[in-house]
Amino acid sequence: MKKIVISTGGGDAPGLNAVIHAVVKSSYLRGWEVYGSRSGYKGLLDTDELVRLTPEMVAEITPTGGTILGSTNKGNPFAMPVQNMAGEYQIVDVSDRVMKNFTRRGFDCHIAVGGDGSLEIAQRFAAEKGMPVIGVPKTIDNDLEATQLTFGFDTAVSTATEALDKLHSTAKSHDRVLVVEVMGRDSGWIALNSGISGGADVILLPEIPFDMAKVCAKINDNEAYDKHYAIVVVAEGATAIGADKVCKDGGEIGRQEECLGGIGEWVAKEIRQRTEKDTRSLVLGHLQRGGTPTTFDRLLALRFGGAAVRLVAEGKFGQMVALEGNGMIAVPLEQVIGRRKKVPMDCDKILTAREIGICLGD
Ligand code: F6P
Repeated sequence: MKKIVISTGGGDAPGLNAVIHAVVKSSYLRGWEVYGSRSGYKGLLDTDELVRLTPEMVAEITPTGGTILGSTNKGNPFAMPVQNMAGEYQIVDVSDRVMKNFTRRGFDCHIAVGGDGSLEIAQRFAAEKGMPVIGVPKTIDNDLEATQLTFGFDTAVSTATEALDKLHSTAKSHDRVLVVEVMGRDSGWIALNSGISGGADVILLPEIPFDMAKVCAKINDNEAYDKHYAIVVVAEGATAIGADKVCKDGGEIGRQEECLGGIGEWVAKEIRQRTEKDTRSLVLGHLQRGGTPTTFDRLLALRFGGAAVRLVAEGKFGQMVALEGNGMIAVPLEQVIGRRKKVPMDCDKILTAREIGICLGD
């Protein structure tokens, strides 16, 4: 009999509930118990926020978006924003309290489902506090080097592609340039995959600092083919040559990552000024994180959940489950942290984009 606690941390991604389903069902069928920690580590800080997960509770959650446990990107127990008596926020290390509750409640393992930030926290609990941890990779950005794919990515790309498909007709009707900003942080996977699939004229990636003159030349060049409109996909982390990333002032206490956003509008203004074409921009934003996971993401998430429980059965802690080829592997957590997957310049998607005439801004 084992007792597992599962948490979901960082930005949500379609497929999180499928992981929870697989972990709960495959544990239950082994005769084990699973508890969910609400909002990342909240359930391990305040055990009122721990919820016993039964097969009945997870029976119908696989096709649903979001996470039944809730999530946060401001809940790092090693640097937690806590309000003092004067109402001011102080950053406090509450990791010992988490570890004490984990031990007191008799947990054998923590399955941490998260992206780079959440997995780094899980790794610290494993390395510094001796917590038996298993990581499950999650992010719509697909930017974890240690796994071929993360769940949530396929859904995000499908949402972005569908949006691009819809924008063609309105752009064409008005002879306009439409600039679409997509998520992905410092990796251009969402922009590249959706941009190629959705027939973009220009795709701007964080991996290729762009030259506005080249972007506008491509838009003007469309005229030679009797095409009077253009679709430009911009990754939120893309930058013009020599410029810094464009960020929003998040101003959220305890948030450790910058809040990217605004490059799409900047690009649109430049295009308007340089080409005199009507130009509009839109930010797809959190639409990409919402909704029901695609079949691919559901299956990947269920497989990750199943693989995580198999690692618990084998007592292999301090590992993250990962996709390699057609199968599941385990990668030591310390080899996962801080290794972001960028779009390689020689990959076939980049080559294909160039070969079919898409401008990458260089
Ligand atoms: O990492 C996932 C992600 O959606 C990024 O693509 C994006 O930059 C960020 O999270 C947005 O975070 P938030 O939901 O806190 O605005």
